[in-house]
Amino acid sequence: MIPKISTLGGYIFEYQKSVSNPTGFWNNIAESFYWRKKWSSVLEWDFLRGDAQWFKGAKLNLTENIFERHMFFRANQPALVWEPNDPDEAHRSLTYEELFDEVNKFANVLKSLGVLKGDRVAIYLPMVPELVIAMLACARIGAIHSIIFAGFSAQSLSERMIDAGATILITSDGGYRGNKTIPIKAIADEAMENCQCVKTAIILKRTGEEVAMQPGRDFWWSDLIADVGIHCPATEMDAEDPLFILYTSGSTGKPKGLVHTTGGYMVYSAYTFKNVFQYGDGDIYFCSADIGWITGHTYLVYGPLLAGATSLMFEGIPTWPDAGRFWDIIDKHQVNQFYTAPTAIRSLMALGMEWLNNKDLSSLKVLGTVGEPINEAAWHWYHDHIGKNRCPIVDTWWQTETGGIMISPMAGITPTKPSYATMPLMGIQPKIVNHEGKELMGNSVEGNLCIAFPWPGMARTIWKDHDRFIKTYFTAYPGLYFTGDGVKRDEDGYYRILGRVDDVINVSGHRLGTAEIENAINEHPLVDESAVVGYPHAIKGQGIYAFVVCPQFSTGGEEGIKTSIQLAVTNMIGPFAKPDKIQIVNGLPKTRSGKIMRRILMKIAAGQIDNFGDITTLLNPEIIQTIIADKNDSESKASN
Ligand code: WT7
Repeated sequence: MIPKISTLGGYIFEYQKSVSNPTGFWNNIAESFYWRKKWSSVLEWDFLRGDAQWFKGAKLNLTENIFERHMFFRANQPALVWEPNDPDEAHRSLTYEELFDEVNKFANVLKSLGVLKGDRVAIYLPMVPELVIAMLACARIGAIHSIIFAGFSAQSLSERMIDAGATILITSDGGYRGNKTIPIKAIADEAMENCQCVKTAIILKRTGEEVAMQPGRDFWWSDLIADVGIHCPATEMDAEDPLFILYTSGSTGKPKGLVHTTGGYMVYSAYTFKNVFQYGDGDIYFCSADIGWITGHTYLVYGPLLAGATSLMFEGIPTWPDAGRFWDIIDKHQVNQFYTAPTAIRSLMALGMEWLNNKDLSSLKVLGTVGEPINEAAWHWYHDHIGKNRCPIVDTWWQTETGGIMISPMAGITPTKPSYATMPLMGIQPKIVNHEGKELMGNSVEGNLCIAFPWPGMARTIWKDHDRFIKTYFTAYPGLYFTGDGVKRDEDGYYRILGRVDDVINVSGHRLGTAEIENAINEHPLVDESAVVGYPHAIKGQGIYAFVVCPQFSTGGEEGIKTSIQLAVTNMIGPFAKPDKIQIVNGLPKTRSGKIMRRILMKIAAGQIDNFGDITTLLNPEIIQTIIADKNDSESKASN
C-alpha cells in the first residue's frame, strides 16, 4: 500500500523527515511497489551537470505495478471509465483485468511488428481508451512512447516524430471534439510524408470515415489485434530506462523532448496522486486533461492506475452539447475527485449558472486545478458552486519537467487560500532567488522559483540534447533547478505562483513558446519580422498578441494578411496557437544591439500607455507612441 498522510500534523512531521533525510524517505515510499530487483543506491545526483539517478540498479516493469500487483484485489474493479464525446453514445468501462488483457494484446501487436525495448513509438490519438492501451503496451515491452496531442498540426507532429526518431505511429481515422470531426489520419499522412523514420502506422477506427490506407505501411488496429494472445511477459527495465518522451515548449523555437524514466516517475506519480487527492478505495476520479499533455500522463493514467484507482476519461469538450457537460458526467458517474484547468472553470463561469440546474454534484469530495494561476473569482465560483462550500480545492503547481505535483495543498489537510498553491509536497525544497541569484530567505518575499534538491519524478534530460537540459534548467542559478516561474512566499510561508518569467506563455493552460509562434508567423512571405507576447485574457488566462512588421500588403489588405497569418500558425503549430490579436506595425522597439524590447510590447499589449521605464537603450523610442496610436485606432475601428 502506498502510504497516505491524513492529518496536518502528519504532513508537517513527514515533510520535515522528507527534507532532512530525502533518501530515507523515498526509500520507504519505494518499498511499497513491486520491484524485480531492489536498488543499490536511492539517489545519485549533481545538479551542476543536470544529473539525477533514482533507485539505481533496480529492475522493474511499471505495468506489473498496475496490473499484476492489483490483480488479486482489483481484477473486477473498473480501472478506466470512458465517457464519449456524444452523450448519446454508450460509455465504456474496463476493469483492471480487461484493461490488462487489452494492453497485453496490443503489446503483442507491437512485438509482432518488430518493436523492441528502447524503440520510440509515436502516438497521435483522440481521447479514447485505446490511447491508454497503447501507452501501457509500450511500457509493457519497454518501448518509449511519445504522445503528441491530437490538436497539433502535421508539421508539429512530423517535427516531433523526427526528433524522437519514431519508427511507428499509432493513430486513428478521425476524432470527435464537440460538434467537429477532426481528420486525424489525413494530418498523420501529411506528417509521415515529411518524416522518413516512421515505417509503420496502426490506425484505430473511431469515426468510421473513409481514409486512405498505404499498403505495407498502414494497418488497422482491429485487424492486428484479432489474432494475438492475451499474455505478454513484461520486459525487465532498469529504474532509469526511459518510460516516455513528452514534448513541451520553451523559450526558443524548437520544442524540447523531455525524458521521464521508469522507477522514479512510478513512485512519484502514484504517491503524489494518492496524497494530493486523498484518493480512497472505491472512489471515482475524473481528470479532464488530454493525455497529450503531462497532466493526462501523470494524473489520468499513471498515477491513478498505479494507485489502483478508477480513472474516468472524457473524449469531448466542456461546452458541448451544452455547458453542463462536466456536471452531467460528474452526476452520471458519481465522481468523487474532479481535476481540471482554471480556463475551463472561467469559461463555464462566464456561461452562467443555469447549466448547474438539476445536476447532482453531491458525490464530489475534492476539486483540483492545474496548468495556470487561478484567479480568486474563479476559485470562489468553483468552491461555492461546484464544491458547494464543502470540497477542498487543491491548486496544484507543477510542470512537464517535474513529472508530478510539487507545490499543492493535500486535500482537506492543508488549509487553503484562494489562488495559492500553498505548501511544498514531501521531499520538495523550493527556494526563491532574485535576479542576482541570491536566495531570498524568510517570508513575504517574491522572486524566481527554484528547487534545491532532486525528486524522483523529475525529467532526466532532453532527448538527445543533455546540454540544452543543463543550459535551460541548471545554469541560471548553479546548483538549483530553475522552474521559469515567478513566485511569492507570503507572510504565512504560503506559495503563490505568479506566472512565467521567460518567453513562455500559458494560453488556456496550453504552454507555448513565443518564439515558436513568431517562427510560424515569419514563414509568411510578406512578413519581415514579428514579436509575440502574452496579455491578460479574462477566460484564457493569457491571450496571444502578435506585433507584425509587414511592409507590403497583397490583395485583401490588412484583413487578408491577418487571415493568412492565422492560417500559417494553424498549419505550423495547431489551431490552439492562433493569435487573439494581430497588430501590423511599422517597426518593433529595439535596443542598439538589435534586441526586441519585449517588456515594452507586453505593457502595450496589456493596455498600458505610459511608464515604460528605462528606454534610453532604445534605438527607436518614437516607435512606442506610433504602436500605441495604431492600436487605439484599430481597437476603436473594431468596436464601431
Ligand atoms: C507551467 C507548466 C503541470 C501540468 C500542466 C502544465 C504553469 C502549472 C500551475 C498552478 C500557477 C501553474 C506554470 C508552469 N502552472 N500549474 N497551479 N498555478 N501556474 O504543464 O505545460 O509543463 O506548464 O504551467 O507556469 O511553469 P506545462
